[in-house]
Parts: sequence; C-alpha cells; structure tokens
Amino acid sequence: MKPLKITLYAVTIFLMINLTSAHADGDVKKGKRIFKKCKVCHSLKKDAKAKIGPNLYGIIGRKIATSAGFKYSKAMLATDFIWTEEQLKIFITKPKKMFKRTKMIFPGLKKKKDRDNLIAYMKSTIK
Ligand code: HEC
Repeated sequence: MKPLKITLYAVTIFLMINLTSAHADGDVKKGKRIFKKCKVCHSLKKDAKAKIGPNLYGIIGRKIATSAGFKYSKAMLATDFIWTEEQLKIFITKPKKMFKRTKMIFPGLKKKKDRDNLIAYMKSTIK
C-alpha cells in the first residue's frame, strides 16, 4: 500500500471510531436542547434552589429524594436507591411507570437518542 492510502485509511478509521463513540455516549449539545423540557422545573446549577422540581446538580450518584429544601412525594421518599445512568434513563422514559404517584408531571422521553443525549449533557454540567 502507498503511504497516502495508509494515511487515508487511518483517518477514516479514526473518524469512524470517533463518530460511533459520540453516538454511544450521547451528544452534549443536543442534550442541552432536550434539557429545556426539564428546565421549567429543574436547575442543574450547583446550590440553585428547587423550582417546581428538585435541583438536579450531580443527580447521578446521589441518593433518590435527597435534594435539600424540596418536598418530595411519598412515592419517592419511600424508595431507596442511588441514581445511576441506567435508573435515570428508565425513569425519564416514562416517570409514571417507575413511580405511579410521582409529583413529576412529565410524559417522558420516548426516543433512546434523546435520553442518551440528555444524560451526556447532564453529566457535562458537573464541575
Ligand atoms: C413539570 C415539572 C417537571 C418537569 C418538566 C420535569 N420534572 Fe423532574 N421532577 C419534578 C418534580 C415535582 C419532582 C419530584 C417528584 C416527586 O417527589 O415525586 C421531580 C423529580 C425528578 C428526579 C428525581 C430527583 C431526586 O432528587 O431524586 C429526577 C432525576 C428528575 N425529576 C429528572 C427530570 C428530567 C431529566 C426532566 C426532563 C427530561 C424532568 N425531570 C422534567 C418536576 C418536573
């Protein structure tokens, strides 16, 4: 193979790997747009006050229903787990399915891509 060909192959493979991993991890910019749906009720800023919903800064790795100054539903208070990416994705697909009596009035994100992008964005806001 000629050196130019090898370089082209290398570049192509490099791009392919990058594009695939960007897809798998979610797109931060697109996720930011998705978060607009949550923003009415949630802040992602550290130490920001609760709005209609609790502050979501650092939600991944946090125990459920423990944001200070927010009055959670009994449904959430009665549950005990640490939010993981997986749990968050399940919840956000259809909140009422996970917690029948949650106070969060949100139909859910049906598209897997939207959920992946959203989580990527939420993670990117952690300092
Ligand atoms: C209309 C307001 C509203 C919208 C829109 C909304 N939420 Fe919520 N969210 C709430 C409320 C209220 C709660 C508290 C639920 C409870 O106590 O049952 C909550 C709880 C949560 C929790 C659990 C927090 C904790 O401390 O355990 C997560 C995670 C969450 N919301 C994520 C999201 C995401 C992500 C979106 C956008 C895709 C979103 N929410 C959209 C109102 C909203």
